[in-house]
Amino acid sequence: MKVLIVGGGGREHAIAWKVARSKRVDKLYCAPGNAGIAQVAECVNIGVMDFEKLTAFAKEQDIDLTIIGPDDPLAAGAADAFQAAGLKVFGPGKDAAILEASKAFSKDLMKKYHIPTAAYETFDSPEAALAYVETAALPIVLKADGLALGKGVLICRTREEAREGVRSLMMDRQFGTAGDRIVVEEFMTGREVSVLSFVDGKTVRVMTSAQDHKRARDGDEGLNTGGMGTFSPSPFYTEEVDAFCREKIFQPTVDAMRAEGRTFKGIIFFGLMLTEKGPKVLEYNARFGDPETQVVLPRMKNDIVDVFEACIDGTLDQVELDFEDNAAVCVVLASDGYPEHYEKGLPISGLEEFEGREGYYAFHAGSKFDDRGRIVTNGGRVLGVTALGEDLKKARANAYEAAQWVRFDNKYMRRDIGKAIDEA
Ligand code: AMP
Ligand code: GLY
Repeated sequence: MKVLIVGGGGREHAIAWKVARSKRVDKLYCAPGNAGIAQVAECVNIGVMDFEKLTAFAKEQDIDLTIIGPDDPLAAGAADAFQAAGLKVFGPGKDAAILEASKAFSKDLMKKYHIPTAAYETFDSPEAALAYVETAALPIVLKADGLALGKGVLICRTREEAREGVRSLMMDRQFGTAGDRIVVEEFMTGREVSVLSFVDGKTVRVMTSAQDHKRARDGDEGLNTGGMGTFSPSPFYTEEVDAFCREKIFQPTVDAMRAEGRTFKGIIFFGLMLTEKGPKVLEYNARFGDPETQVVLPRMKNDIVDVFEACIDGTLDQVELDFEDNAAVCVVLASDGYPEHYEKGLPISGLEEFEGREGYYAFHAGSKFDDRGRIVTNGGRVLGVTALGEDLKKARANAYEAAQWVRFDNKYMRRDIGKAIDEA
């Protein structure tokens, strides 16, 4: 069959790598893709928001299945556009993608269906929000309602920071209209875990757990980023935690979406905080995580195309997911200065080291071919170097070894990805 993947980051490279391993796939395209994805798919120069061109391409090429990677096109109705064109697509429609696209929606959903999450209030006016933060307990968390590249969350430790935060989100519109409404939330402490799941509208099948590292600098210092590295599984996600989450969080979320007339088919990514009072939802995403996918999919045994189709067909209850009994660590190689100012267009070398080495992967996040045909950096996050190992410590050692193979000017990485493993 012919498959099209929409997106061009490290997540899509990991998805493309996995789809390319399916025995059922003869031809794989990716729009727009990147220089790494070009190793496993034919890249097509169409942007992720250009639904007209994407659906026209899928029709022309007789694409049998399209997988939408990123949140922005899903929230804007990419899956609906494919469906309307009579094309088979994996990913939630706009109605269901709101689970991620509006934090106010997801918080209200959790409240209505008694799904454990932090206490919160929603504000549409900066005056009311400013009045509220004057008396709220500190620290306090401010969240832009809409999509903000994973950066619309402010943790405010002082009242002045909270006032500043409200002003920058709602009045200076740091994230545009995403901040016209904000959620103000109780601050929670604990371990964070990411759990990705396949959903067919009724059934939810949970993948192995992972943990992200969102801050730019070692020791969780520095600015929030899209994610600087991940490991899988999380040793803190125990069987007991898993049982609780399945009963109180995963299935109730899927049931709640159906009850609201927003049947969800696709990936639900549960961002969880393991608090002293039990697991609580930090956030939902309506897509694969980046860079969680880079550690989860290399451990998955199933043919992923079968699972995608079961979600679309509503037959996921007949599928069991199967993961290797090993571990994976992903270290993101970034351009120094990310997430603020950084250079692009720097030649990358050493990628040939990965060729033919089973269990070592260089997933490209921001790369392209320059006009001389060289692979150069093309984003703040450049590569996600992933390695498998029989346990987390071996996987971490392997990933940091492989991170040395790759060279480009201003290469920056965190040195403490997976350090939490030592405390488990
Ligand atoms: P989100 O995009 O909602 O996952 O938030 C980004 C990050 O902010 C999370 O991964 C947490 O580290 C942090 N965060 C979000 N909400 C809270 C909260 N209520 N309490 C503590 N930390 C939070
Ligand atoms: N790694 C977090 C995210 O994909 O949103």
